[in-house]
Amino acid sequence: MSKKIASARISEKSSQLLQDLNNSLPFDKVLYGEDIQGSRAHAYMLCEQGIISKEDYEKIEFGLLEILEEVESGVFVLDGDDEDIHMAIEGRLTQKVGDAGKRLHTARSRNDQVALDFRLYVQKNTKVIAHLLLENIAIFVSVAETHANTMLPGMTHLQHAQPINFGYHMLAYASMFKRDYERFMSSYVRNNYSPIGCAALAGTPHPISRQITSDKLGFTAPTLNCLDTVSDRDFALEILFNISTMMMHISRLSEELILWSASEFKWVTLSDRHATGSSIMPQKKNPDIPELLRGKTGRVNGNLIGLLTVMKGLPLAYNKDMQEDKEGVFDSVRTAILSLQVLNEMIVEMSVNADKMEAACMIGHLSATDLADYLVKEAGLPFRDAYHITGNVVNLAEEKGLDISELSLVDLQSVDERIGEGVVALLDNRASMNARQSEGGTATVRTLEQVESLKGWLSSQM
Ligand code: ARG
Repeated sequence: MSKKIASARISEKSSQLLQDLNNSLPFDKVLYGEDIQGSRAHAYMLCEQGIISKEDYEKIEFGLLEILEEVESGVFVLDGDDEDIHMAIEGRLTQKVGDAGKRLHTARSRNDQVALDFRLYVQKNTKVIAHLLLENIAIFVSVAETHANTMLPGMTHLQHAQPINFGYHMLAYASMFKRDYERFMSSYVRNNYSPIGCAALAGTPHPISRQITSDKLGFTAPTLNCLDTVSDRDFALEILFNISTMMMHISRLSEELILWSASEFKWVTLSDRHATGSSIMPQKKNPDIPELLRGKTGRVNGNLIGLLTVMKGLPLAYNKDMQEDKEGVFDSVRTAILSLQVLNEMIVEMSVNADKMEAACMIGHLSATDLADYLVKEAGLPFRDAYHITGNVVNLAEEKGLDISELSLVDLQSVDERIGEGVVALLDNRASMNARQSEGGTATVRTLEQVESLKGWLSSQM
């Protein structure tokens, strides 16, 4: 017999189609742990406040713990025709402990119950993702330390620009992931307020203590206003936005890894464990993992826009539209966790082809800016004049089929005799890289300073 949608007023059996549309159990069953955790805290508070008896509380507590075990061992399968996880667990509890189970919903509504369960889920996964980000940052920092002297062409517009080192490039990503981590953690703090006890929308006449449930569940405090609390999904939007931003960073890295593993570059080689073959071209090794990470960014962005659109224009307080809040969040969380795990493994096992990167530095006159800087600093020329002279030197190098760093002093002075003897050494790519010693610059010493700074920060977070 199909269960009646929770109502004392509706007598007719629900249409199957209504149930298919209405029931959230098929997806909100993942919240069973949070639902039981919330109900245990609520029952404890009801007992503390004298709203239910100690005997009833003990039965509820015992029953809920049993249900938890039953779900986890597969004895109680959450595939019935209950409307949602809240009804399924309350129904099971009542089956087990009788009238005590029916007292659990005192001073509570599914509106504050779902707000609590979902918030507990978001808070828990915020920590899981943040922790994976820390592992990720540590890996990037260690790769950076190893490659603080491995040169590659830094680019703008995807054109060779100036020599940098691979460690410095990795630290750019570590910096993005550090911001991501901080974004997750600040959302955690901002959203760590307890919704339970708000009831349907207006609070309750029962003498509850929202402080007790808040403390028991590890929240900072109860939320301020019940009407807001049962209609608020900002915490869910925040985790979606935080995941989107993080995945946007991962997709930029993925794009670079895809380029760098192409034959034209061969700057990195992904391990065979992280590449796939082609079904027809036996010679192929495809970078499917970074491609998928790049692709999954699209789906998490869709989840963010989806929930923003669901919430837009909803009148206060709870509306059933809000049941559409969960699947996108579950999907983004799953995607984020898997992506970070794969990324960690892939970076650890990737090999860096330092010789290929360094050879690429001989293309594109990467140290040209150093000549212009020299003419400004040593010959006192205005930058724009120095820029033009350097342009002529680059033209000469092109005519000779050489990189600017390969020109002799005679060559250089044939363009402008103010170019002095020290310039040849200055135009060496490594010298050029190491000349960039300004704060946050690419010089190996500065890169290693950034490594140290991130290591210090990491150990302060552990
Ligand atoms: N399954 C519902 C959801 O996920 C729970 C809240 C239902 N509240 C209600 N008043 N119908 O949003």
